[in-house]
Amino acid sequence: QINEAEVVAFSVPSYACQRRIALDHHNTVLADALSLLAENAELSDEDGRGVAFRRAAAVLKALPRQVTSMAQLKGLPCLGGHSLRVIKDVLDNGASDEVESTKRSERYKALKVLTGIFGVGAKTAARWISEGIHTLQQLQASGHTLNRAQQAGLEHYDDLNQPVTKAEADAIGEIVEKAVVSVLPGAQVTLTGGFRRGKLAGHDVDFLITHPEEGREEGLMPKVVSWLVKQGFLLYQKTTRNSYLESKDGPAQPPSNIDRFERCFSIFKLEKQATKQAEMPEDSCSFGAHRQVEGDDTCLQTDPQSCSLSPIQTGGLCRRASSEEGQLEETEPAGHKPWRAVRVDLVVSPVSQFAFALLGWTGSKLFERELRRWAGYEKAMSLSSHALYDNNQGRYLRAASEEEIFAHLGLEYIPPSERNA
Ligand code: CTP
Ligand code: MN
Ligand code: MN
Ligand code: MN
Repeated sequence: QINEAEVVAFSVPSYACQRRIALDHHNTVLADALSLLAENAELSDEDGRGVAFRRAAAVLKALPRQVTSMAQLKGLPCLGGHSLRVIKDVLDNGASDEVESTKRSERYKALKVLTGIFGVGAKTAARWISEGIHTLQQLQASGHTLNRAQQAGLEHYDDLNQPVTKAEADAIGEIVEKAVVSVLPGAQVTLTGGFRRGKLAGHDVDFLITHPEEGREEGLMPKVVSWLVKQGFLLYQKTTRNSYLESKDGPAQPPSNIDRFERCFSIFKLEKQATKQAEMPEDSCSFGAHRQVEGDDTCLQTDPQSCSLSPIQTGGLCRRASSEEGQLEETEPAGHKPWRAVRVDLVVSPVSQFAFALLGWTGSKLFERELRRWAGYEKAMSLSSHALYDNNQGRYLRAASEEEIFAHLGLEYIPPSERNA
């Protein structure tokens, strides 16, 4: 019996960028429940609700212990009525009805399948669903014209929905490094995104490229991309030019959240050989269903969602018995090719903006959003991946490191591994 009066309520600061949030925390079940509702809101193009659930999840991730009673949550920021109901449901019943019914809903499942196609966002998926398209087969049968990104996304659907491992990220890092120094000696490549935060798997690999001499990085991306194309490393790429310096009112305009670096969304062709040396987990299939079948290490699980293994870990033999993906796998047996497709994001930054770009591309997305909210509301500053503008002083604040940016913002420095809001 808990005496409510004796329960010590937790306390956390209001903004996620004021908290240290490691990958491991004490409230995974609760945070996962709220994250699923956030995901569902985002997939439904309801970003406001999505952010509200993400903020609530980020509060739970920051708590020093597991939540066992509602009284401990009294006075915590970012926990609205809806989030509190979900939390109470999980604490009382072990699961939230809303979360469970969302997971089972046809709409959520269809949104997941369709937005799982690279190049398909929430709006496109919603339009297709309104036409009765819920599966990849129905999409293909519909005769819809797909753009180049979506065609690539469909072609490499299974690979791109298989998490990228750290070993694969490192193998791709070596290729990118080689490409970059081949076309511009002295240029530097930095791993950003989730892998910089210490994640062991991700949906893509993110790299930031710069050169220590300002200006030398100009025009670098097309050269890197053609090197990669020539070597056969790219299955798809879309490069956008730097538009930050081009808009000739230059840095005098207030920095927007949209960033305007030279960037490239790509799909790499990664030879499985390239990651062979790396150490692989013995059996990290969450389903625990890996078995030896005729000498093959084959995953026999029937629920494709519960397999966390990449084709590399399964030797490409995880036979995911999805009714939706079955047909695709027959036409392209993912397990029998010596390579896999991996999403890679490349960004080129001038060295004068490097610290801002590094901070902006390391994430998490909520951490970034909270940094900008803090800057605007608490400091009257505008933060982007290019610069920090102080509205009171009417000038840009320079920074050569992430530490300096946190200092300008009056925030305690949070290292990448603790930005997992
Ligand atoms: N980002 C961005 N502009 C985009 C896409 C992403 O500025 N159009 C930034 C995000 O804000 C984030 C970083 O790039 O800080 C990485 O984004 P992303 O790769 O989507 O997420 P990760 O945190 O790396 O997670 P995952 O493992 O799923 O890739
Ligand atoms: Mn990423
Ligand atoms: Mn990315
Ligand atoms: Mn498996």
